Amino acid sequence: MALVNILHMNPGDGELSYSKNSLLQETAIRNAIPILKNSMKGIANYGVFKDYITVADLGCSSGTNTLLVVSNIIDIVHEVCQENNREVPQFQVCLNDLFGNDFNTIFKSLPDFYANLKKNKGEAFGPCFVSAVPGSFYDRLFPNKSLHLVHCTTSNQWLSQMPQGLENNGSNIYVAKTSPPNVYQAYGKQFHTDFTKFLRMRSEEVVHGFNNP
Ligand SMILES: C[S@@+](CC[C@H](N)C(=O)[O-])C[C@H]1O[C@@H](n2cnc3c(N)ncnc32)[C@H](O)[C@@H]1O
Repeated sequence: MALVNILHMNPGDGELSYSKNSLLQETAIRNAIPILKNSMKGIANYGVFKDYITVADLGCSSGTNTLLVVSNIIDIVHEVCQENNREVPQFQVCLNDLFGNDFNTIFKSLPDFYANLKKNKGEAFGPCFVSAVPGSFYDRLFPNKSLHLVHCTTSNQWLSQMPQGLENNGSNIYVAKTSPPNVYQAYGKQFHTDFTKFLRMRSEEVVHGFNNP
């Protein structure tokens, strides 16, 4: 069976779940806030979105980090719109991960998430529509020109397949300090192939061009 059909992070919210063991990734998400804000300012200033904004988080996994990313994006769009005297758009948030991802745990936390949004931002805010898009981000996931913002944290390093030519990688199951140079090259080559494909797919899916704000 293909790797993309079976790989998944540990589901649920128990002691061994991804949700309870992803502090490092949470730190990366928090550290990226200034970069996200900067990108969002560019998108808002050039009028790329109007009444609604469609956001995709690719490799979202499940658990607290998933909705933390969504909250951060909503907060930033809200802030940038207020700074620019713009009406806050409606939000369409598409959460993507592989087919085996525990989307059910995300769905179960949505009622609280929606209630908190209303509480913190007011009844008239949004609304925000969250949906799941299972599949590999190395394939097409969305219609042409449908996304305003694509977000991805600590998931692009997952390759689509094992690199070729790792026979002399000793007892390592990854690229390690002791790996010979050809192993580094094999990982680099696979990443280059995968990331080029990722960008090609997204280039079809993002909204092109600028409108007047
Ligand atoms: C380390 S987790 C990061 C999850 C989340 N973004 C975070 O910051 O906590 C990497 C995620 O990428 C997903 N992933 C890996 N390869 C993928 C692919 N080709 N398409 C979609 N998701 C993928 C994995 O299933 C996993 O949930």
